Amino acid sequence: MPDHVTMGDRVAMHNTNRLKIGLFGPNCSSGRAVTMVPERWSGSWPDNLKLARMADEAGLDFLLPIARWKGYGGDTDYQGATLETLTWASGLLASTNRITVFGTVHAPLFNPVIAAKEMVTADHIGQGRFGLNLVVGWNEGEFEMFGVEQREHEARYDFAQEWLEVVKKIWSAKEDFDFQGKYFNLKGIRGKPKPLGGTRPLIMNAGASPAGRAFAVKNCDAFFLQASRVSAEETAGFVKKAKDLGREHGHDIGVYTVGVVTCRPTQKEAEEYHHHAIIENADFSAIDSILAMKSITPETKGMEEFNRQRRFYANGMGGLPIVGDADHVAKTLADLSTAGVTGIGISLINYLDELPYVRDEVLPRLERMGLREKRRQAQFA
Ligand SMILES: Cc1cc2nc3c(=O)[nH]c(=O)nc-3n(C[C@H](O)[C@H](O)[C@H](O)COP(=O)(O)O)c2cc1C
Repeated sequence: MPDHVTMGDRVAMHNTNRLKIGLFGPNCSSGRAVTMVPERWSGSWPDNLKLARMADEAGLDFLLPIARWKGYGGDTDYQGATLETLTWASGLLASTNRITVFGTVHAPLFNPVIAAKEMVTADHIGQGRFGLNLVVGWNEGEFEMFGVEQREHEARYDFAQEWLEVVKKIWSAKEDFDFQGKYFNLKGIRGKPKPLGGTRPLIMNAGASPAGRAFAVKNCDAFFLQASRVSAEETAGFVKKAKDLGREHGHDIGVYTVGVVTCRPTQKEAEEYHHHAIIENADFSAIDSILAMKSITPETKGMEEFNRQRRFYANGMGGLPIVGDADHVAKTLADLSTAGVTGIGISLINYLDELPYVRDEVLPRLERMGLREKRRQAQFA
């Protein structure tokens, strides 16, 4: 990786893959599968390290963690043990060569001057491979434990806008500066060194509300949205809308999505395992606690909708389910690419056990379709 890093290199995640593929959520226990199966993801550091090296060697494009401060309880304490994402990213960037690693920062919980420096440090460790997922938070219990009051929804993104302005200015300013805003009054700010190569880290956001989306299309290089479960055409409409909005703000944004992959040698095996892990052995007590935080109860939504949401959340808290053999998984990913999706963050029930099959069977299919670079053989020598 050269010392000189352009913004284009960062946005392209330093490769020419037309469909970017990353792993989403491995820093958390259980990952994104709210299941009781004993092989569920540990989220431990040794497993994360092995996984990151495997993903790096396989040519995957990114690792995206979840900043979660308190688990969701239930029988498994779903996402109860989580590795803090900036320190996790720094460790993984030091141990890998090509893959982009995101850190997820809750703007209201981190002082921007400290966060700017932590991110620069991670960026230097990774030689320009650090990316920021900026979030505003939605889980009140987490904020209470910091003694921080959650703002009204719209104001959260207003605050994040100012927070990001401070951070970007620290990353670029040649001189010391003062910042006087609505939320911050900072004097004599200095931040050295700057991010690598005179450019800033890649920034992503996954706001779903009108305020969240407006923030994302205005500020981010990468915007994550939910793909349609109905059709690729519907997803294409969502993508187009997001890209058009980005252009209105004068830039091309990459549009990403998230998926939950169960890939097995046959369709039947994949469906059976998915049913076993996500339906028969779902941790419904944890799911009910997540739903309650979002005010989704039989009383507020009615029994039918509540049950639909329960099944939806069991499966990766809402990611697109992609269940099948390698042909099916590759085709679904290719359809997303045709719909204009730039990349996808996938989760697996046990990432380390399941990634080798995806690597050996799905990635070569995508290479043959021209969606991904041919893996260099030397890497595996
Ligand atoms: C890919 C992805 C990653 C996310 N990562 C986090 C996270 O790490 N921590 C968090 O509190 N919220 C996370 N979220 C939630 C979003 O930041 C956002 O709050 C949510 O989609 C609701 O949108 P809104 O804030 O516009 O209401 C994530 C969502 C997605 C789709």
